[in-house]
Amino acid sequence: MKSDEIRSKFISFFEKYNHKLVKSASLKTDDSSVLLTVAGMQQFKPYFTSERDAMKDFGSKDVITIQKCFRTKDIDEVGDENHLTFFEMMGNFSFGGYFKDNAVRLAYEFVKDELKLDKGRMYVTIFGGENGIPKDEESEEIWKDSGMMGIKMGSVEDNFWGPTGDEGPCGPTTEIYVDNCEVYNIVFNEYYKDKNGKLHPLKQNGIDTGLGFERLTMVMQNKKNVFETDLFKPLIDKIKELKVVNQDNERAYRIIADHIRGSVFLINDGIRPSNLAEGYILRRVLRRAIRYCKLLLLKDNFLEELCSVVIKQYSNYHPELNKNKKEILNVVNEEYEKFKLSLDKGLKEFNKRIFTGKISGEEAFLLYQSYGFPIEITKDLAREKGLEVDEDGFYKEFEKHQEMSRKGAGMFKSGLKNHEEKTVRLHTASHLLLAALNIVLGGIEQKGSNITPERLRFDFNFDRRL
Ligand code: ALA
Repeated sequence: MKSDEIRSKFISFFEKYNHKLVKSASLKTDDSSVLLTVAGMQQFKPYFTSERDAMKDFGSKDVITIQKCFRTKDIDEVGDENHLTFFEMMGNFSFGGYFKDNAVRLAYEFVKDELKLDKGRMYVTIFGGENGIPKDEESEEIWKDSGMMGIKMGSVEDNFWGPTGDEGPCGPTTEIYVDNCEVYNIVFNEYYKDKNGKLHPLKQNGIDTGLGFERLTMVMQNKKNVFETDLFKPLIDKIKELKVVNQDNERAYRIIADHIRGSVFLINDGIRPSNLAEGYILRRVLRRAIRYCKLLLLKDNFLEELCSVVIKQYSNYHPELNKNKKEILNVVNEEYEKFKLSLDKGLKEFNKRIFTGKISGEEAFLLYQSYGFPIEITKDLAREKGLEVDEDGFYKEFEKHQEMSRKGAGMFKSGLKNHEEKTVRLHTASHLLLAALNIVLGGIEQKGSNITPERLRFDFNFDRRL
């Protein structure tokens, strides 16, 4: 089954059951708990919490979307069978309409009767109960009733979803697996997790579901990995056509394909390469793709060629890609012009150096600061030489440097723009946070942080639940 047919089957099936099709939200999000849109439910948070009324806004309590999502969590895994940064997620949602019974039945009918997936290829998981949250016996009964044979229990780790970021709606899940691949995640949003990690019951129950579109397509097309599906084939073929290096490098093809497709969609949603927040996510994936294109010696104009394949392939369902084509090509070309000389110089510098087993934090930081290498490029280079990178050391260097520039900026304080002032304040707040954590918990080491004018993120490891 072609991927376009999967899209239309999904839409018509749920429309038949009176769901309203809502447009995918932009990847650029005003949800301050995350940098980009990472899930279908994100645009619907106010409906789950009853702050907004779906009936009023959509004319229905039940809706569907095919949502553009971008997750950086798995960026190191891209290159294997099915990890991606950008992906689309189909989902049906209900805000105080149907709950477990209907959600399970609709999902099962869709995969069994519409997609015609054989039930012998399937099993499901349900939440087995943990941390004072009870086992989901209701779903177990519903699945047994429907004749499902394989029912497995899962823990909080596997069968409890959300929230996105540090607070929001969340709840236990039941998931459908086909050929051991998760294709349908049904979340029963019963709780609101607050910033302190405490769960409160939501005023009304909600349904949030997700079917990873690329993975489902892989299953439907009986492929071993997502890159062999019709969603990626034209792009992978183009990469092979443009490459001059007479050798196959599957990992490189996949990384280029994923990162170029992701870049096109990020730019399409108004994100531009920069050294901050979501702009830096775009810069990282685009520069990493460029570096692999250079490694395979792709022929001139490769960025335009590759982006054009993505735009052409996706413009049926995302017509704005065509409208923004010129701008998208301008942005990638500009970033290429900015990066190409320093990429060459940085590679020379890298090859000149003699590393002993590990690339130090200072060395990785030098490549970042002097040549604009995102840490992923340094990690790729290291991997190719059988070396490791001291990533923690890199982040420490980064922090140290930020601290120095903060002191420097202080000297010109009157000249600071409002934007920078807020960032400086949040930077100071991150130091206060570290100090406070050390007073309360002790032994805390900062692992990283990310500061934008709106918010700060602070990463650290701790071996117990807080
Ligand atoms: N929100 C759920 C997910 O992203 C459906 O998997």
